[in-house]
Amino acid sequence: MAKQKKRATLEDFKERLEAINPELFKMLSEPKSHFSFRINRNRADVESVVKKLKEEGFEPQALSWIDEAFVLPIEQREALVKSSPYSAKEIYIQNLSSIFAAHALRVTKSDWVLDLAAAPGGKSLIFSEKAKKVSAVEPDKSRFFMMKRNFKESLAKNIQTYNKDGRFIYKACPELFDAVFLDAPCSSEAHFDIDKGITWWSPRRIYKFAKLQKELIISAFESLKSGGEMIYATCTFAPEENEAVVNYLLKKYPNAKLLPIKHNFKNTQEGLTKWQEEAYSSELSKTLRFLPKGAFSGFYIAKIAKR
Ligand SMILES: C[S@@+](CC[C@H](N)C(=O)[O-])C[C@H]1O[C@@H](n2cnc3c(N)ncnc32)[C@H](O)[C@@H]1O
Repeated sequence: MAKQKKRATLEDFKERLEAINPELFKMLSEPKSHFSFRINRNRADVESVVKKLKEEGFEPQALSWIDEAFVLPIEQREALVKSSPYSAKEIYIQNLSSIFAAHALRVTKSDWVLDLAAAPGGKSLIFSEKAKKVSAVEPDKSRFFMMKRNFKESLAKNIQTYNKDGRFIYKACPELFDAVFLDAPCSSEAHFDIDKGITWWSPRRIYKFAKLQKELIISAFESLKSGGEMIYATCTFAPEENEAVVNYLLKKYPNAKLLPIKHNFKNTQEGLTKWQEEAYSSELSKTLRFLPKGAFSGFYIAKIAKR
């Protein structure tokens, strides 16, 4: 008789998160208190948008580490979406972990950036303001067209879009890009709604994504020029999709080196160097996990240099 597969439970999920960080499940269970947004500087300057928002009754909270992003209480999200700067596409709602991760990639005015898993395109929009040009790759047709519309509406003119599978990009573009961002498709544990109970989460899903992520991280690294830097990121907590994927790259490519990520945030945790039976390189402690708090969503970032 075929063995019956045991269904994953909320308790399994909780146990895994607490093994990563004892506070993580609790932090994820707390209702979101704030959200954040960026000003689209292709359409407006920061001061004029803040002025308009104040006239419309908002008090956007500025941040010490970035000029173009602001925070508001979560109750004001609906009202912001109805505000005139939002209707004029002068505002892009994006969580602070994503904004920080995109800015953590070293990008200069003369650079060509590859965004290997790009839709809906929020991070490409940040690179487009800093780089000479951006190549944004997205295999899913409907997400691809939504992303194209996003770039058009945002007036981002230096982004080329490709409806392709990121796993094979390196074959057409070996060592072509100055900087690469891989915001990998993942099990999205950071967006798990604990009140709704266990729906789409399962360890099987984690293993399925880990396999794809290993192929994508190779493609990202092979597409990067020697001397360039890349970021591997996910919105999930599972070490199998994070540290294990980066560890796999480090083992395969001796010229892949982890770089420290500078920050002053308290809601973070350094990368794990072991998980369950697996030991990872001690270098993995240079990677960073954002714990969900305020306008920060759960996120994982590894910054990698190609020597
Ligand atoms: C986390 S989302 C990217 C979010 C985006 N970077 C942003 O900030 O707006 C991951 C994306 O990877 C795409 N994806 C899935 N499989 C892929 C593959 N084989 N190659 C490239 N992208 C893939 C998904 O469709 C999804 O749009």
